[in-house]
This record gives sequence, structure tokens and C-alpha cells, in this order.
Amino acid sequence: MELEIKNEETLDEGLLEEMEQAAICCLRNEGIDGDNCVISVSFVSPEQIHQMNRDYRGVDKVTDVLSFPQFEDIDEIIDACGTPFPAELGDVLINLDRVKEQAEEFGHSFERELLYLFTHSVLHLLGYDHIEEDERAVMREREEAVMDELGVARDDSPWTDHSDDFDGEWENHFQSVGRFKLATAETSNYAGLYDLAQDAMENAYAPYSGFRVGAALLTEEGRIFKGVNVENASYGAAICAERTAAVTAVAAGFRNFKAIAIASSNGDVSMCGICRQFLAEFSRDLDVITGPDRDNLKVTSLSQLLPDDFSRESME
Ligand code: THU
Repeated sequence: MELEIKNEETLDEGLLEEMEQAAICCLRNEGIDGDNCVISVSFVSPEQIHQMNRDYRGVDKVTDVLSFPQFEDIDEIIDACGTPFPAELGDVLINLDRVKEQAEEFGHSFERELLYLFTHSVLHLLGYDHIEEDERAVMREREEAVMDELGVARDDSPWTDHSDDFDGEWENHFQSVGRFKLATAETSNYAGLYDLAQDAMENAYAPYSGFRVGAALLTEEGRIFKGVNVENASYGAAICAERTAAVTAVAAGFRNFKAIAIASSNGDVSMCGICRQFLAEFSRDLDVITGPDRDNLKVTSLSQLLPDDFSRESME
């Protein structure tokens, strides 16, 4: 196994060796001797990965890792390994700034987050994905197996605790880019999340405005919390759907918000300023999903909707 590191100076030798071990484990678990395999790894800036994410996936935001598999499936890889030429499995792009942030957020080491994300990316190169529920379970099991073998098993992984009430399909994050497929560690189904926001709307209490709003908030752990607007005879006491979803999540012990979908009786709705500020407290990178219907959704990062939020740091 050779990791072709594009910019080696970024990480210390020990970590690079552990990454190589992770790749070897992934291949070994498929019965492949990785001797003849090459994976290209680039450490890129948040700006660079943002651009790649936008250009290749149409997702205008920073992400943690991106994988570009070269082969369709494991059988193609096995065939390629049988030739005298090195089997180039594809490219992995890693945004180390995000790895560091996520490690801090999840309360585990940088090493563990890096190895986990790299393992996840290598599994994508081997043809795994997490679009369907059953595929996702298999991929997760493979990830855990490798993490166990490396001695960095995660007990608090956002990938190991998914909500039972999330019944939507998972968005297909693969896109064809020439002969490449592109995959990312991020999972979501924003159309499914939007459906849940619409379902939530049924319980809106809006006798004064008649404008019913439903929200579905997805946490990093994969849990979903719904919210509705709740009005009051003293009009100013009304609370928006987004905030009722957020306070429900916080009350249940979940504060790492990943995405929020909002639907209203008028279809499209723009999140009010108070909710933007309220949610920025927990996640500035929150994906905000709005639109007139599930087929015409707009995904905007909260940081775009509220570029200059007032935060804890503002008081320091
Ligand atoms: N509303 C929300 O629930 N979310 C928003 O983002 C905008 C406004 C509610 C509050 C109130 O009950 C009604 O819509 C009209 O302002």
C-alpha cells in the first residue's frame, strides 16, 4: 500500500503511517493484499474543499473529506490488483481544519477523528456508500472494525447512534464527474427532512396569523427534532417553529445541529432574524433547507444567512 501524499509537510510521519495502516486494514478486510495499491491523499484548505464541494457536488459549503473513487466496485479493484501495474484506487481530499474542529466538538483526539474520516473515505474508494439504510449499516460496521483494529474505536461516534424516527431515504452523495464518482462523509436527506418539517406543521398553533410553520432539526448524532410555531393572545409571546425544534433538542441533550428544514402553509419561508441568532449559538455551519416543495429545495449555510452573528467570543 502506498499513500501518495500530495503535501506531506502537513502531518507528522507517525500519523501518516497510521493512515496507511487504516487503508491496509480496509483492504485486508476485503481479502485484498494492498501491496499493489495506491491512494492519493491531499490535505486541502477549507477554501479549496469548499470550492471542490461546490463545483462537483453543487453544495456550497465547507466539508471535512471528499473521495474520488477510480473503480466502480471491489471486483474491479481485485482485477486491477492482479495486473503488474499499481492499482490507483482514487483520491481523498482532507480538510484538516475541519478534522480538528470535529475532534474538539466530539471530545476525542485529532488522531481518532482523522483516522475515522480517512477510513470512511477509503471505504468509499472501495465502493461502499451510505445511501440506503442497509448499505449504511454495513459501511458503519466496516468502519468500526477498522477503528477497532487500529485501537481507536469510537464509543461516541455520530455514525453509531442514529435516530429510529428518521425514516427518509439518505441522499445520494455520489455524483458522476467524468469517470469519477464523488462521495463525502456527510449524510443527510434534505428532501426527507423537509417532509418531516411539513408533517410537523400539522401541529402548528397559529390561530392569530393563520401562518403555520413546521421545522425538522437534524443533529450530528442523526437525531431529528420537530418544532412548530406556537402563538399567543399576547402576540409578542409567539415562538417560531425553528426555536421550538431547537429547544426540544437541547432539552433532550442534543446541541450539535447539522441541518434544519422549514416548511410553512405558504410553502417557502425565510427564517426570521431571532431564529438565525438563536441557532447560530449552536451551529454557524447549520444547513438551512427551505423551498416551496421537496423538489425545489434551497440549501443555505446559516453563516450565509447571518454572517456576523453575536457570539460568546464577541464578549471576550
Ligand atoms: N414564524 C416561524 O415559525 N418561523 C419563521 O421563520 C418565521 C415566522 C412564525 C411566527 C408566527 O407564529 C408566524 O410565523 C407569523 O409571524
